[in-house]
Amino acid sequence: MRAIAVSEYGATPSVTDLPLPEPGPGEILVKLVAAGLNPVDWKIADGMLKDSVDAAFPLVLGADGAGVVESVGPDVGRFAPGDQIFGQFRDLARGGGSFAEYAVIDQDAPLARMPQGLIYSQAAGVPLAAMTGYSMVHEADLDVGKVVLIVGATGGVGQFAVQFAMNLGAHVIATAHPDMDAEMRRLGAAETVDYGRADIGEQVLANHDGIDAIIDLVSGPQEVDALTGLLRPGGAYVSSIGAANPDKLASQQLRGVNVHTPGTPELLATIADMLDASKIRVAVSREVPLEDAPAAIAANRQGGARGKTVIRI
Ligand SMILES: NC(=O)c1ccc[n+]([C@@H]2O[C@H](COP(=O)([O-])OP(=O)(O)OC[C@H]3O[C@@H](n4cnc5c(N)ncnc54)[C@H](OP(=O)(O)O)[C@@H]3O)[C@@H](O)[C@H]2O)c1
Repeated sequence: MRAIAVSEYGATPSVTDLPLPEPGPGEILVKLVAAGLNPVDWKIADGMLKDSVDAAFPLVLGADGAGVVESVGPDVGRFAPGDQIFGQFRDLARGGGSFAEYAVIDQDAPLARMPQGLIYSQAAGVPLAAMTGYSMVHEADLDVGKVVLIVGATGGVGQFAVQFAMNLGAHVIATAHPDMDAEMRRLGAAETVDYGRADIGEQVLANHDGIDAIIDLVSGPQEVDALTGLLRPGGAYVSSIGAANPDKLASQQLRGVNVHTPGTPELLATIADMLDASKIRVAVSREVPLEDAPAAIAANRQGGARGKTVIRI
């Protein structure tokens, strides 16, 4: 089967021919139709987890995907051949991932039935970004009328976070360059701030004397320190890149949370229900064939994401 893999950490991802994997006890073989690209895919290829996980090489990249169950191993009760599913297919110990024609994965991995009305390329863009956006909004403890700044709102996680926050009745301020202003408002932002034009904090304070939460997908510790001054006492700073310092924030009567999203089947099913009910939608900004995935991965490193990049398999 064709797959996008690296031969070692730090190697350039390339189209690779690999043997078809076989499902063992409790495992399913899935024929993937589409895969979703996330920044963590190239971070892992670079070696982000090399000291904590023993990965097998060649290592197929990608976690998010959508497809059809081809066959099941012994003791599988959760899925049957023909089921249309989406979710996370990364298996570092086996060298498995979603940028491949087939993947074998444990039936208890974060997998769920395909949301109604979504095509595979849309469903493949959902799992990590939506589960992370959901977790960050939950950690921010939002409610009707609370004011939240979302930094990095135009990317994969950010676009879901905007929608989850809006659904809770929060007043959402989204960072966005002018080309994304209208789209951010359609997703539920009440205001946008353009970080390319002026300091984000100054733009927020022009309309608010303080805010209740910051959900931040991009800022490092120094920028976090600078934005912390926007928060009212009791406010929350939620980072997806480990940049919040909970102890330091606690000393300022604030709450700091660094989210790590170990996806679960239950959370993914909740998100599938919200997609079914049209409470959220997925924004796929770019679709490429499998052989162009290495170029798409290189482009993702450069930033400028406008929603999700999806790989057609
Ligand atoms: N902890 C976890 O479990 C977890 C889970 C998922 C993701 N993450 C991490 O969270 C980060 C975001 O993920 P993602 O999938 O949303 O990435 P993404 O799709 O690449 O989106 C990032 C967005 O941030 C914008 N941006 C860049 N610099 C900015 C700045 N200074 N101010 C405001 N916006 C800025 C980018 O657009 P412009 O460049 O045009 O501004 C882009 O729209 C990544 O580092 C990822 O690895 C962590």
